[in-house]
Amino acid sequence: MEKLLSMRQVSCGYVTRSLGGLGRRVEKPVLRGIDLEIAPGEIVGLVGESGCGKTTLGKCALGLIDYSGEILIGGLRQGTGANRKEMARRVQAVFQDPSASLNPAWKAGWILEEPLRIGKAGSGAERRRRVDEILELVGLDPSYKNRRVHELSVGQKQRICIGCALMPKPRLIIADEAVSSLDVSVGAQILNLFRELNRSLGLGMLFISHNLSLVYYLCSRIAVMKDGRIVEQGAAEEIYGSPRAAYTKALLESVPEAPGPPR
Ligand SMILES: Nc1ncnc2c1ncn2[C@@H]1O[C@H](COP(=O)(O)OP(=O)(O)OP(=O)(O)O)[C@@H](O)[C@H]1O
Ligand SMILES: [Mg+2]
Repeated sequence: MEKLLSMRQVSCGYVTRSLGGLGRRVEKPVLRGIDLEIAPGEIVGLVGESGCGKTTLGKCALGLIDYSGEILIGGLRQGTGANRKEMARRVQAVFQDPSASLNPAWKAGWILEEPLRIGKAGSGAERRRRVDEILELVGLDPSYKNRRVHELSVGQKQRICIGCALMPKPRLIIADEAVSSLDVSVGAQILNLFRELNRSLGLGMLFISHNLSLVYYLCSRIAVMKDGRIVEQGAAEEIYGSPRAAYTKALLESVPEAPGPPR
């Protein structure tokens, strides 16, 4: 079966200049020969220390930065300008901070409807019906479409962001630290929403997180990253039960245990 995401020998880096843009051009490699696949309906977790290149990998998969190697989304090459519209239908993103992703003065319904309006998709009534459908899908009452963003809780804002991502009916979502800024109980609700969407829509996901417990809860397969390389990948139980790479062992050992009750 065609993979949702297939990355082969993907490398990329950023160009910076010393002396605040005036100095020598310095190329900083970030990803070094990444191989990663996601099958339809699969949730894959990507873990690794801060700065190892997880977000950069997500940006490559979304076609936001140049890379060398090959990235196919449902068999179509990512990053070629001609495919942009089709790519938006195949892969979408949810980021960490929903407050930074949404205009606080806008009503939730306007935000959800915007891409359909721009794409002139359907009549006004059809678009509003789709907004209601999406709100229901992300666990919000249709009346929320009349709420302005600043009137929503962070968890509700993240649900709107997920709704925006679902609007073009993608098959793959890149969730980059999507529950990291939420408190534990709200984060758990969003995690369960991801699970539900995976079950009901067969939505595939790359779940990027530094929280190993969350990744274990949600993902069937896990890739561990260090310094721009994937050092180990496999079924979640394998990675947690018998990690092979020394780095994975160190990462697992670094998870703090909950302290006991105060005496
Ligand atoms: N736009 C940019 N220009 C130059 N360097 C960048 C840029 N974005 C990221 N980097 C660098 O690339 C490296 C990888 O960054 P990236 O954001 O992918 O890490 P990450 O694994 O997502 O980290 P975190 O867990 O903290 O989110 C870092 O060293 C970072 O400083
Ligand atoms: Mg990141």
